[in-house]
Amino acid sequence: MPQDRNIIILGIESSCDDTSAAIVENGVIRSNIIASQKVHEAYGGVVPELASRAHQQNIVPVVDMAIKQAGISKEDISAIAFTRGPGLLGSLLVGTSFAKGFSLSLNIPMLEVNHLQGHVLAHYIKENEDDTNKPTFPHLCLLVSGGNSQIILVKNHLEMEVIGQTIDDAAGEAFDKCAKVMGLPYPGGPHIDRLAKLGDPNSIEFNKPKIQGLNYSFSGLKTSFLYHLRDNLKINSNYVEENKANLCASLQKTIIEVLLGKLVKAAKETGIKEISVAGGVSANSGLRSALTSEAEKRGWNMFIPEFRYTTDNAAMIAITGYYKFLKGEFASHELVPFARMAINE
Ligand code: KG4
Repeated sequence: MPQDRNIIILGIESSCDDTSAAIVENGVIRSNIIASQKVHEAYGGVVPELASRAHQQNIVPVVDMAIKQAGISKEDISAIAFTRGPGLLGSLLVGTSFAKGFSLSLNIPMLEVNHLQGHVLAHYIKENEDDTNKPTFPHLCLLVSGGNSQIILVKNHLEMEVIGQTIDDAAGEAFDKCAKVMGLPYPGGPHIDRLAKLGDPNSIEFNKPKIQGLNYSFSGLKTSFLYHLRDNLKINSNYVEENKANLCASLQKTIIEVLLGKLVKAAKETGIKEISVAGGVSANSGLRSALTSEAEKRGWNMFIPEFRYTTDNAAMIAITGYYKFLKGEFASHELVPFARMAINE
């Protein structure tokens, strides 16, 4: 689409428990505000009803702050990109409804964004005009979050194909559920990451899945972890407390080996050496260093996101919206959010 002015996209993300708004101008990040909801900590997981109420309270101040921090006025915005799904329906409804109302009041178009595509496209956010080191196409993205573990063949900014995925739990779920049985707070991934640094990753062996092709499975590992605790707690009631660091280090090492095993297989099968990682679990320090060494060994061009783009954020929604804007793919005001959506929907 030919442009006679800068393309300024307001991105809105409200799929789970983070309310976020961002401004991206011609693909360059201008602001990215995230209000995380602390209310769920007491419950050991996200409570959907509380999440949507908190989004309602946060959305206006968060959008206001994103616009102010970008140094623009709302009349400068070209279009509003919002997460349509997948996610919690009540949470998605807040962002979708806000986007509809704001687009009507400003008389500008809307762009619907698939949250999973957003995670992948976070790699294309430019920090400034000269930031051009981005993955070329086709590339492979390992998308690892609380709800997904997928290997995605990224054909271009908007065309993606899942070539491997979990048949049961996601990697993030394995981190969180194993953390929960050890009595660690929610979400457990960052706590396991921290404790793993103090332990011996080779001290305990857990069962690894034997799944065909490029698919993953984490439910067996979770059960193996649970049985290991049950058996050892019978002998020593202080087993978890006394061995927490070793448990975390060994569990984390196993999850990383499983994730990397299939990624290496995918890279070999496709011949692609342009590799990225995305999603909440990509914040894991063990995974980041394992990917870096694997990339050196195999000659991959590896893209690891900055921490602020690993978890849910609106910058990734705004950049995806930017590429949709360039293609003129605007959304109708009739659309409704979807709790479940595949990456290519
Ligand atoms: O992408 P995300 O923010 O949310 C969605 O699932 O959409 O991912 C959240 C997941 C949680 O399971 C959390 O425990 C995990 O990412 N996570 C981590 C780390 N930081 C976040 N897992 C392992 N190590 C980390 N440092």
